Amino acid sequence: MIVALNNKSNFTKEEFIKYLDELSTIETKHKIILCPTSVNIALFDIDNVSLGAQNVSNNLAGAHTGEVNADQLESFKVKYCLVGHSERREEQHITSKDTNKKIKQLLDNHITPILCVGETKEQRVHKNYRAVIREELLTAIKDLEEEEIKRIIIAYEPIYSIGTGIVPTNDEIIEVLNIIKKILPDNKILYGGSANEDNIDTLKEIKEIDGFLLGGLSLEVEKLKLFLEKI
Ligand code: 13P
Repeated sequence: MIVALNNKSNFTKEEFIKYLDELSTIETKHKIILCPTSVNIALFDIDNVSLGAQNVSNNLAGAHTGEVNADQLESFKVKYCLVGHSERREEQHITSKDTNKKIKQLLDNHITPILCVGETKEQRVHKNYRAVIREELLTAIKDLEEEEIKRIIIAYEPIYSIGTGIVPTNDEIIEVLNIIKKILPDNKILYGGSANEDNIDTLKEIKEIDGFLLGGLSLEVEKLKLFLEKI
């Protein structure tokens, strides 16, 4: 399984160095990808975990104040990068068109995009979540070659589940995974949203899942180890 850790905007320099020490003690057969806050990327120095980023610029190097581009990420040995996380869609107004540009930048620089898709509670209640997921996927992969599309990892993260402790039923998750698989039959799919060491026994029954994207649990290494033992 793939387990991607999204630190979000957490850990000062000193805290991150201590965290890396703890993370370096993890022994597992699973593939672990750590996506630290961008300033902490330069501190990454462990080899039992792969390095990811949480965001990339839509653009090449140049006059884009505050942006980190894919070429720079690659130069720091970043191998994976989250794209279109719902927190960035909401807080930074990232659109699906932006995700398409970011994916192109990443693929051009040999970095595997982890494309996040997911619906709000309102979209689920109003039953337009299927259309939302389809739009997020189809716009993100527009004009890409088939071989490029296959390199993308998808993360299904229902927005109402992120950081809330609310996890959809397995049937609800499977329905969306099948929508994704209909469009992208060959891509790996992760689930994210309040996944933890307590609910993993239920979540791991879903055969369609290739791994998990963890937020809160990524910050607590002892609990993360329990989680990894269970999958
Ligand atoms: P939580 O695991 O804290 O719900 O966060 C999920 C997430 O947003 C990972 O990208």
